[in-house]
Amino acid sequence: MPTGPEARDLLAELRDRERGLRDEGRGQDVARQHAAGKRTARERLAELFDPGSFVELGLHVRHRARDFGMERRDVPADAVVTGFGTVDGRTVYAYAQDFMALGGSLGEMHARKIVRVQDLALEAGCPLVAINDSGGARIHEGIDALDGYAHIFRRNVLASGVVPQLAVILGPCAGGAVYSPALTDFVFMVSGVSQMYITGPDVVRAVLGESLTHEELGGAAVHSARSGVCHFLDTDEARCLERVRTLLGYLPANNLEDPPQLDPAPGCGPVEALRAVVPAEANRQYDMRQVIDGILDPDSFLEVHAGWAQNALVGLGRLGGRPMGVVANQPRMLAGCLDIASSEKIARFVRTCDAFNLPLVTLVDTPGYLPGTDQEHGGIIRHGAKVLYAYAEATVPKVSVVVRKAYGGAYIAMCSRGLGADFAAAWPGAEIAVMGPEPACNIIFRREIAADSDPEGARARLVAEYRETFAHPYVAAARGYVDAVLDPADTRSWLRRTLDAAVHKRQDPPARKHGNLPL
Ligand code: HXC
Repeated sequence: MPTGPEARDLLAELRDRERGLRDEGRGQDVARQHAAGKRTARERLAELFDPGSFVELGLHVRHRARDFGMERRDVPADAVVTGFGTVDGRTVYAYAQDFMALGGSLGEMHARKIVRVQDLALEAGCPLVAINDSGGARIHEGIDALDGYAHIFRRNVLASGVVPQLAVILGPCAGGAVYSPALTDFVFMVSGVSQMYITGPDVVRAVLGESLTHEELGGAAVHSARSGVCHFLDTDEARCLERVRTLLGYLPANNLEDPPQLDPAPGCGPVEALRAVVPAEANRQYDMRQVIDGILDPDSFLEVHAGWAQNALVGLGRLGGRPMGVVANQPRMLAGCLDIASSEKIARFVRTCDAFNLPLVTLVDTPGYLPGTDQEHGGIIRHGAKVLYAYAEATVPKVSVVVRKAYGGAYIAMCSRGLGADFAAAWPGAEIAVMGPEPACNIIFRREIAADSDPEGARARLVAEYRETFAHPYVAAARGYVDAVLDPADTRSWLRRTLDAAVHKRQDPPARKHGNLPL
């Protein structure tokens, strides 16, 4: 490189070029983006990464399109900012689509930039965060744009289960573009900012005559509560990006590493409060979160899918500083029954934890799979099978505790010993049985009850007898189906010890191309 005046010219040219591409030289665009209540792609990346750590790749990339006036169209950095930086000191790759440049639309070069960071993240064994804010396939670039998506989707699949992939939707995400987020591990959305749909409101109106806003069709509320597409919902971009950082703190960089262990939380003595969580009255509801809070390190529970299928609870937490996944039935909703949505929620989460070496703690209080035509005709058989498949297939340490009810198929599905739990325990009031005492007696003692001069009295007596004989934890304990009947106060310390004991466990499943997960 020359020195003297020529050098100054070269550096001046570099700065000029960069200025036009970065936010500093694009005042009007930035003002429009802010007026829409959104940050720019570069502001988002600055917020995501440790201060000053982001290294941009491909700032000077330009599109090569020549149709529909594109030869005259300047699209800074081809509408996507790509690179890497650190989050709490750990390397993470990322891209953020730039809506200010032709609506963040994806053309040939835009896709190539994304594919480049996907390849780098996979080779380096680092997480990838994708910030989506785009009108979808760049219409001017036609099939080149579609081919670009195909390459991205293929890499999403290749990276699945190897490095964590997080999709953050901070604007529109329309058409086939939704399938890259759908192929990642976690999807984040922000109320009033994020929208995802296969076909927009105009097409829905034309084809079906339904009039819907973008929010009603595919807003954050819809995807976090009804469709289950969104794992984390936030009220603004800053909170959302902070949550992305938090989640990364629970995940290993890749499938060959362990999740980051914090210094063990001090003490693991009895947690007296756990004795008072389950109500004395049979069938009274309570909040399983109280059990989770009594078991995990303080304030460490990061709930996943909090708004969807609320009859199950799943989330990440720490126990003695070690990250793990927690799965639980939630007796406050549908009495904690397993249905189609909660089966999918649990199965998906179990597989995510298994892929990234997160041990699993399962807390059981369920009367079974939800009965009814909606469920049967909706395919509860194949959806419910996903829970069995996911638990049986998972090779991470698995420990389960029956807190109250564990009936029938749901007992088996919720990580029973037979299905593969390394350790299982039950609280003293647990009822582990093929079905609840009442329905059981109505079947096996139907004739005796009908013949009795006092049928209700007979039913009550037989139910009590059944409960005494079968539906308590000592029958399961006597047969070795649970390893311990625990004072609830000792659950935290028991889980910590059993997980410590199982942490180096090794399992070698039989060689095969892949199993055939019921889909
Ligand atoms: C090219 C696009 C574009 C696109 C938006 N723009 N989407 N350019 N291709 N897909 C441009 C607009 O022309 C405009 O350019 C600028 O981006 C901002 O867009 P606006 O419409 O002014 O913004 P807004 O009113 O906020 O509306 C945003 C929007 C809307 C809801 C996303 O633009 C829209 O509906 N776009 C089309 C969405 C869509 O149907 N995409 C699916 C494409 S098919 P100027 O020059 O005015 O600044 C697809 C299939 C992928 O994605 C298949 C993969 C397998």
